[in-house]
Amino acid sequence: MDAATARLLLTPEATALLERLPAYDTIEPLSFGSRLRREGADGELVAAVLSQAELRLAARRKLGDFAQGMLFTREGLEQATRLTVAARHARRFRDAGTTRVADLTAGLGADAMALAALGLAVVAFERDEATALLADHNLRHWDDALVVLADSMETVRGVDGVDAVFADPARRTGRGRRHDPRDYSPALDDVLALRDQFPALGVKVGPGIPHDALPTSTPDAPVEAQWVSVDGDVVEAGLWCGPLAAHGGRGALVISGDEAHELTGEPTPGEAGTLGEFVVEPDGAVIRAGLVGPLAESVGAHLVDPRIAYLTSASEVHTPFARTYRVLESLPYSTSRLASALHARGVGRVEIKKRGVDVTPERLRPQLKLRGSASATVILTRIADRHTALIVEPVGG
Ligand SMILES: C[S@@+](CC[C@H](N)C(=O)[O-])C[C@H]1O[C@@H](n2cnc3c(N)ncnc32)[C@H](O)[C@@H]1O
Repeated sequence: MDAATARLLLTPEATALLERLPAYDTIEPLSFGSRLRREGADGELVAAVLSQAELRLAARRKLGDFAQGMLFTREGLEQATRLTVAARHARRFRDAGTTRVADLTAGLGADAMALAALGLAVVAFERDEATALLADHNLRHWDDALVVLADSMETVRGVDGVDAVFADPARRTGRGRRHDPRDYSPALDDVLALRDQFPALGVKVGPGIPHDALPTSTPDAPVEAQWVSVDGDVVEAGLWCGPLAAHGGRGALVISGDEAHELTGEPTPGEAGTLGEFVVEPDGAVIRAGLVGPLAESVGAHLVDPRIAYLTSASEVHTPFARTYRVLESLPYSTSRLASALHARGVGRVEIKKRGVDVTPERLRPQLKLRGSASATVILTRIADRHTALIVEPVGG
C-alpha cells in the first residue's frame, strides 16, 4: 500500500464508510461497491474500504476483537504476531520490570499494542510510511504509545527513557521467506549488538533459524531461545536476552486453545530403541528446539531411529508435547505392499505422515487406489535404515 492510500483510509469519510459496512462475509463485494459508488462515494475510497473490510475479517483469526478497530495492509497482516503470542511477549517485558520498550519493527503494531495494553510505554519504529500511518491509527487508544517513522537502527540509541528493546525483523521478500538471519531486515546480528545498551532485548526469529546462528548464552548474559507452536503450527522462535530470559537454555512452548505448556532443556541426542506398540510424534516446536531427546527421556520413550524425530514406546504416552499413535501394522515400505495392506483393511481415506523418506503424500495417495469406507493414518519413515510404513490409529481421539 502506498502512503496516499493509507492517508485516504484515515479520512473521516473512510472511517464513516468503514463503520457502516456490514461484515465482509455477509456482502457481495462487487455489487456492494457499485451501490456505494451509485450513492456518490469515490471509487478509490470504496475500493480501499472494501479491502479493509476483507482484511479485518481475515485478521480476526490472528487478532480477535482487536481487529475490528484496526487498519491493515495485506503484507502487514501476514507478518503480524497473533494476539495470544504477542501477549506473551509483552508479559515478559512487564514481568522483568521494564517500563518503556522500543519496538524496532512496528509493522501494523500488533506487538506494540500488546505491550501498551499491559501498561508499558512503547516507542514503535516503522520505516515504511504507509505502515507507520496505519500503526499510528492502531495504537491511537494508548497515550503512552508513540509511532516514529524512522529507521530504528539509526535512531533507537538516542531515544530517552527506553529500558528494553523488542524486534520482529521482516523475513519475507517477493520470493519467499529468508532463513539466514543475516538477511533479516534488520539483520539479527545488528539487533543483538544493541544489548550493550539495552540488555533487556527480545527478538522474534523464524522457527527455521539454524541453531548455529543462535547467540551464545552465558551466566552474565543469558539468552533463552523459545520455539512456539499454536494449535500444531510452529509460528516463531523468540530469543530473550538478559532480564527477559527465564533461563539460559532452549524451550518449546506448545499453545493449544487456552492451554500452554513448556518443555525446557538442552538439546541432547536421544537413544534409539526397537519399535513398540506406540509411536509418538513430537510437536513441531519440540523438534525445532532440538528437544526430542529430552522429551523421549521425560516420557520413557525411545527414538525409532537416531536421526528421525518419531519416538516409540511400549505403553501409551500422554503429554501435551506430542501425539501418540497405536501401531496396528508395520511393514517394509513399498507402494504395492502398503496398498494391499490398506485394501485388506477396507481403507478408503488415508492421512499420510512422513519423516526421513522421500515420498510426496499427494502423489502417493492416488497410486494406492483406495476404495473402502474405513479411514487410516499411515506413517512413512526410516527405522534402522529401512523404509517402513506404519499403519496407526491416534490414541485418545
Ligand atoms: C515482521 S514486521 C513486524 C510485525 C509486528 N511485530 C506486528 O506484530 O505487527 C517487520 C516490520 O519492520 C519494518 N522494518 C524493517 N526494518 C526496519 C528498520 N530498520 N526500522 C524500522 N522499521 C523496520 C518493516 O517495514 C516491517 O513493517
